Amino acid sequence: MSGTGNLLTDRPELYEERFPDPERLAARWAEATLRRYGSGHRVLDLGCGTGRDAAWLHRAGRRVTAVDTSAAMLAHARRHHPGPDYRHADMRDADLGRVFDAVLCLDSALLHCHTNPELAAALAVCARHLAPGGLLVAELRNGAFLLGDGSLLDGPATATFRRGSTTYTSRTTLRVDHGAQLLRRHRAWTADDGSPPHEEHTAWRLLFPQELRYFLAVAGFEVLALHDGPGPRTEPPWREGDRPGTTLRADRLHLVARLAPRPHHDGDTTP
Ligand SMILES: C[S@@+](CC[C@H](N)C(=O)[O-])C[C@H]1O[C@@H](n2cnc3c(N)ncnc32)[C@H](O)[C@@H]1O
Repeated sequence: MSGTGNLLTDRPELYEERFPDPERLAARWAEATLRRYGSGHRVLDLGCGTGRDAAWLHRAGRRVTAVDTSAAMLAHARRHHPGPDYRHADMRDADLGRVFDAVLCLDSALLHCHTNPELAAALAVCARHLAPGGLLVAELRNGAFLLGDGSLLDGPATATFRRGSTTYTSRTTLRVDHGAQLLRRHRAWTADDGSPPHEEHTAWRLLFPQELRYFLAVAGFEVLALHDGPGPRTEPPWREGDRPGTTLRADRLHLVARLAPRPHHDGDTTP
């Protein structure tokens, strides 16, 4: 198969079917977070996927640039979620030549950076694209969740969804690669439309809260909030008016960090 080899990334219409967000909770949470911390209107969405959040923020009055490495995602975004300035760029080395008031990185997009150098590079990209005092707002899986709750690793888990007259079934097995600190996923897809079965291997970095704080400090960020919810993908989900939480036990991390006003080039990496 061409593209990334990940079915839902290569078929964005299926991504939206599998992970519906009809109320645009993710975008609303991002907007509420930007307002709570007084962000300006220029927003960069890193790993924007289908573009549904970027477009909602655009309609809410933000000036949004959105980047992704998937050509299929960008084509879908331009067609179905117009408004933002969509660019093909990699969060590990993007250089858009301008700065923003906030960088968003939602639904674990940051965790596609698997190694320490990749993570450091992505955070350097965030810093390079922020005006002094700009905000990084991210929402991602919490590596620490797996310390106390291994239920994610029970499996395999089967899920089905329909699009048109086709039923898609996925059988997913997750395992932890302890040495690399990666959550590795094997997923086998079948569909009842006669298309051949499809297998994919995906991985996410398992980032722990203190480790994330360290990476952020080295990149010149001050952490304003880091908590496990409520957020757009927590149970129960975030609702308008909810305040940020204070615990870090559950599956999702919600991060707000501010770029320090002065460049952080004094060699001091003390977090
Ligand atoms: C789980 S999706 C999240 C999409 C979107 N942020 C959302 O919340 O719906 C992760 C996205 O990150 C993109 N991605 C993965 N690695 C990337 C990289 N190095 N630079 C930019 N985008 C990347 C993928 O193509 C995919 O669209």
